[in-house]
Amino acid sequence: MVFSMCLTRLRLLFAARRSTPAFLLVVLSIAFSACRQDMADQPKQKPLTASLFFADGSARQPVEGTVPHGSIEDDHLNVSPDDPNFPVALTPELLARGKERYTIYCSVCHGALGDGNGMIVRRGYRTPPSYHIERLRRAPVGHFYDVVTHGFGLMPEYATLIPPRDRWAIVAYVRALQISQYANVAQLPPEHRQRVESTPSGTPPQEGSR
Ligand code: HEC
Repeated sequence: MVFSMCLTRLRLLFAARRSTPAFLLVVLSIAFSACRQDMADQPKQKPLTASLFFADGSARQPVEGTVPHGSIEDDHLNVSPDDPNFPVALTPELLARGKERYTIYCSVCHGALGDGNGMIVRRGYRTPPSYHIERLRRAPVGHFYDVVTHGFGLMPEYATLIPPRDRWAIVAYVRALQISQYANVAQLPPEHRQRVESTPSGTPPQEGSR
């Protein structure tokens, strides 16, 4: 029925061959306006709709070893930028992981100490602010997580390269770096306190003595 309608319109178009271009245009647009696009309407499987292929009716089974891209289990790790609390437990293992990841991903620009003097910066990249400035020492941990996740100014985002838990490991290590530059001698364990107090001020610590 639709097919014959289209045919009639085509015949009309044929009859109008010798008409003016404007008339031809009108006829043309009528002729093709409502012809059905059967290819667009043909039966097809849409992504993630139920299927009869697998016994449980699912659209597809993930192959063995599939790595999830993001996970609802990580939702609680995505805190707001003004959140002052860590959503993970602070452990020596987390800090060790953070140090390793920081050295890989951040030290190239921010430097091993976090003073913003990394190798890429020494070669001409914009100098990031030192982590030891007042504003960043006061910034909530959520801000650091947000900067790593979404980037900041010229700094690229790292969401696709660093999974959420590792981002927190890095943030914990950055906090440790900040504290390291402002540690109160009285808070150190006795053996470390002794070593600091016996070092004349201005003497750089010996390699391996930290
Ligand atoms: C390619 C160089 C580069 C790398 C790698 C990099 N940053 Fe940055 N970062 C910058 C620059 C540049 C800025 C300053 C951005 C601006 O002001 O445009 C910055 C700014 C920051 C700030 C300060 C934001 C503020 O409030 O001023 C933090 C915190 C930070 N980066 C953390 C990190 C951490 C953590 C990593 C590792 C996951 C990292 N950055 C990796 C270049 C880098």
